[in-house]
Amino acid sequence: MALMVWKDAYSVGNEELDSQHRQLIELVNRLDGKADLAEVLDGLSHYAETHFRTEEGLLEIVDYPDLEEHRKYHAAFRSWLDGVIATHRSGGDTAVARRDVHHYLCVWLANHLLVHDQAFVPWLGRSGGCRRIQ
Ligand SMILES: [Fe+2]
Repeated sequence: MALMVWKDAYSVGNEELDSQHRQLIELVNRLDGKADLAEVLDGLSHYAETHFRTEEGLLEIVDYPDLEEHRKYHAAFRSWLDGVIATHRSGGDTAVARRDVHHYLCVWLANHLLVHDQAFVPWLGRSGGCRRIQ
């Protein structure tokens, strides 16, 4: 299993979000160790929730125009993760399951960082944290 490694290209220029993204990478990489699959997925679900709340909160402050799309994208991930958790809670912790889930999460996370989150970077920088006046 190839571990996911943080790259500068993943940075969104916001310390809190970058640190949460690094934490998500660490959680995903735990699937490579001996940790229980369901436990890792529960931790990931909990942390993703915290991260999505922080991210959506910041995007609200800067009036990010694609916020609703971004919320839907987060919601789709949540429901995928809920489904995987439900499947693996009942003892589906096999090497193949771990490899498949790890692969999906690596692809999802890289896409989240390089595509979806990079799209709001100019908005974070532009606002300086202040709400734009319409
Ligand atoms: Fe994010």
